[in-house]
Amino acid sequence: MKTIFSGIQPSGTLTLGNYLGAMKHFVDLQADNQCYFCIVDEHAITVPQDRLALRKNIKSLAALYIASGIDPEKSVLFIQSEVPAHTQLGWMLQTVSYIGELERMTQFKDKSDGKEAVSAGLLTYPPLMASDILLYNTEMVPVGEDQKQHLELTRDLAHRFNQKFNDIFTIPEISIPKVGARIMSLQEPTKKMSKSDENQKATIFMLDTDKQIEKKIKSAVTDSDGVVTFDRENKPGISNLLTIYASCTGESINQLVTKYEGKGYGEFKQDVANAVIATLHPIKERYDALIESHELDDLLDEGADKANFVATKMLRKAKKAMGLGRVKKKK
Ligand code: TYM
Repeated sequence: MKTIFSGIQPSGTLTLGNYLGAMKHFVDLQADNQCYFCIVDEHAITVPQDRLALRKNIKSLAALYIASGIDPEKSVLFIQSEVPAHTQLGWMLQTVSYIGELERMTQFKDKSDGKEAVSAGLLTYPPLMASDILLYNTEMVPVGEDQKQHLELTRDLAHRFNQKFNDIFTIPEISIPKVGARIMSLQEPTKKMSKSDENQKATIFMLDTDKQIEKKIKSAVTDSDGVVTFDRENKPGISNLLTIYASCTGESINQLVTKYEGKGYGEFKQDVANAVIATLHPIKERYDALIESHELDDLLDEGADKANFVATKMLRKAKKAMGLGRVKKKK
């Protein structure tokens, strides 16, 4: 049994990429491990958010976690801003982070590129993420490929803190799935599928209708040679669809390539669409029932209590290690 932590930003409806790269694996991991799953709303505000939309997205993400199979009896599901230790330790970890290493983060470079007003929070995002992880004695962090660099920095910060102050943090392992770690845009398959893509046809959202899913997959950009094979460099569109298909069904890419030998893209795309619909449709049904219920608030209250209990203890250790606050005289 391992202690596992991961988080997702409530910055819009989740994509098929979020599901296949992260959430799906959270569900598998919870059976044999102590898992913490977080709705990282304080990360979401590093870029401008509409207040009401953010509130809605936080609840929606909670419902999606549960609809996807996160069982609040087994895992701790909570909202980051309801556990103040995250920002407190986040600040302390900023003081051991170097500006140079933060500026080198790809996510910072991508999100700040060409923008005039870039929030300081976007730069100091990684120490907050490190804090999320380190507060829970986390041994393993399941994420998609795009988070690898942040996770490596988390490990560096933990090492640095342990050496400088006291050996209190567990150094977390990174867990990236073999298939599905980087689901690509359906319209520009050399680019990551993302919540914020302006072209709606590029992204499958977890709450899309069956019709929308089918339409998006049928209009996915491919190539003109008509052979279903995996070749990321020369056939990024077909390779992405093969990855999506394999992740949704559990079949291997090789099995799928054999299955579609001599068959055209039309039949292949229809089957990919069916596989995605079979994956997302039941989640959507559970989601619709949950989002209207009062159950969610109770579950999130319980999650925040459990997370606060563990996080506060680690925060106390970290403050002591750094010399913050005071030691009270015994009476
Ligand atoms: P976020 O909210 O962007 O994404 C949540 C998870 O989904 C994965 N993901 C993808 N996987 C495959 N293909 C894609 N196209 C794709 N897009 C997203 C991400 O890799 C991630 O695992 N910084 C994090 C949130 C975070 C966090 C944490 C994660 C905050 N604190 C602590 C782990 C541990 C983020 O922005 O994820």
